[in-house]
Amino acid sequence: MSQSNETIGIIGAGWVGLVTAACFAELGHRVIVLDVVPERIEQLKAGNVPIYEPGLTELLERNKERMSYTLEIKDVTDEADFYFICVGTPPTYSGDADLSAVWAVIDSLPPLERRAVVVMKSTVPAGTGEKVRAALQARGLDHLGYASNPEFLAEGRAIEDFVHPDRIVVGSFEPSDSERVGALYAGIDAPIVYCDVASAEMIKLASNAFLATRISFINEIANVCELTGADVEQVAKGMGLDRRVGPHFLHAGIGYGGSCFPKDVTALKQLAGNSGYHFQLLSSVIEVNELQKRRVIGKLEKHLGSLAGKTVAILGLTFKPDTNDMREAASIVLGSRLLAEGAEVRAWDPLAGRDSYLRGANICDSVLDAVTGADAAIIVTEWKELRELASEQVRGAMRHPLIIDGRNLLDPDQVRAAGFAYDCIGRPGHCNHTPGKATSSEPPAE
Ligand SMILES: NC(=O)c1ccc[n+]([C@@H]2O[C@H](COP(=O)([O-])OP(=O)(O)OC[C@H]3O[C@@H](n4cnc5c(N)ncnc54)[C@H](O)[C@@H]3O)[C@@H](O)[C@H]2O)c1
Repeated sequence: MSQSNETIGIIGAGWVGLVTAACFAELGHRVIVLDVVPERIEQLKAGNVPIYEPGLTELLERNKERMSYTLEIKDVTDEADFYFICVGTPPTYSGDADLSAVWAVIDSLPPLERRAVVVMKSTVPAGTGEKVRAALQARGLDHLGYASNPEFLAEGRAIEDFVHPDRIVVGSFEPSDSERVGALYAGIDAPIVYCDVASAEMIKLASNAFLATRISFINEIANVCELTGADVEQVAKGMGLDRRVGPHFLHAGIGYGGSCFPKDVTALKQLAGNSGYHFQLLSSVIEVNELQKRRVIGKLEKHLGSLAGKTVAILGLTFKPDTNDMREAASIVLGSRLLAEGAEVRAWDPLAGRDSYLRGANICDSVLDAVTGADAAIIVTEWKELRELASEQVRGAMRHPLIIDGRNLLDPDQVRAAGFAYDCIGRPGHCNHTPGKATSSEPPAE
C-alpha cells in the first residue's frame, strides 16, 4: 500500500465513526466528521467526546489539527475523496436492519462533479451495495465509486482493534476503488481481504453470527454442566486448546448483548428468510441467548424462594465493561424480570449513567450502596471494581450474603471463605445452596 494522505469524510459520529475518524487522523489523513445531531457536533468542537471509549479522547485531542466537525454534507463533499458512512443500522420491529439513516445519507448527497468513493462502514445486509449503486445511478451520481469496508471493532478496545485488526475487508465494484480504500490503511499491519461487495457485506454478518453462535453454544454446554457435574471453565479450556476450536468466545455467562450481536444475528436470520432460506441454527442461537439471561432468576429462586419483597443488587448495567453502551444489555431484561417478580432492584454501574434504562430500579452511586440490605447481588457486567466484591464490608452490608456470579468473575473458594453463598454459571461444584450468613436469617421459602 502506498502512503498518501487523503481527505476523508466520516458520516456519523458514534462509536464507529469517531474511532475511525481519530485513527485515520492518527495515520496522517485529514478528516471531516459529520453528524445530524447539533449537540454532538458542538460537543466535539469543544473537545468533549460524547461516548466513552478508552483512549479516544486523547487520540482526538492529539490529532485535532487534522480534524473538523460539521453538520453540513457540503463540507464533506466539497473536500473529501472518501465518504465513510458510519451511521447506525438498528433493528426494525421485523428484525431486519433499519437502513433509513444510510438512505438519508445517500439522499443528502448534492450534485457532484468530483469523483469520490462512498465507503460503507455501517453493518448492512448483503445486497445493500447493489441497491446503493442503483440509487446513485438514478440520481446521476454514477461517477461515484462504492466500497464496502465493514467494521469489526469491539467497544472497550476499539482503538486497539483499529490499529491491530485481524484483517481489513474491502469489497468494491471497481478494483481501483478497493485499492484506494485499502491504501488509506497504509501503516496498519494486517491482511486485506479484497472481494466483491456482497461478500464483504456477508463477511461482517457471518462473523458476528458465528461469534454469537459460539457464545450460545458454550452457554448451553454450561447449562448441561450444571446438570452433570462438569465445570464449564475446565471444559472451555480443554476445548480451546484444540487449534481447530480455538479459545475465544468460549466464556460462559448470562448471554451476549450490545449494539451489534443481537441485531446482526437477527438481521442475518431475516436476510436469509427474505431470500427464501430458513436459517434454523440462528433461531436457536437467539433463543438460547434470551433464555440464558432469564436463568439467573431461577438461580435466585433456588436460594431465596419467591423474589417478591426481596432486594436484589444488579452490579454492572452496561452490556460489557469499559463502555457506557446500554444497548441490548442483559441487565435490562434481568432487571425488568426482577421487578416483575416483585423484587426491589438496586443497581450500580460506573459508566451507565442514571437514564431510565431500568424504570423502577434504584440506581446507586457505589457498589456498597447497591448491596446494602440486599438479599442477593448479581454480577451482570464484569467490571474490574467487582473483583473485590467478596469483602467483609459487603458481607456486613447485605441482609443475605449471596452472590450470583453471572460472568464467572470471582474465585469461588475465596468467595465462600469470605462467608458468602455463591452461585455461578456452569460450575456446579462451586455453587453452594446454603448461604453463609443466611443461616442466621430466615430460610428461603421454597
Ligand atoms: N458499535 C460497535 O461496536 C460496532 C462495531 C462494528 C460495526 N458497527 C456498525 O457500525 C454502524 C454504526 O454503529 P455505531 O455503534 O457507531 O452507531 P451509533 O449509534 O453510536 O452512531 C451513529 C451516529 O450516526 C449519526 N447519524 C444518524 N443519521 C445520520 C445522518 N443521516 N447523517 C450523519 N450522521 C447520522 C447519529 O447521530 C450517531 O451519532 C452500525 O451499522 C453498527 O452495526 C458497530
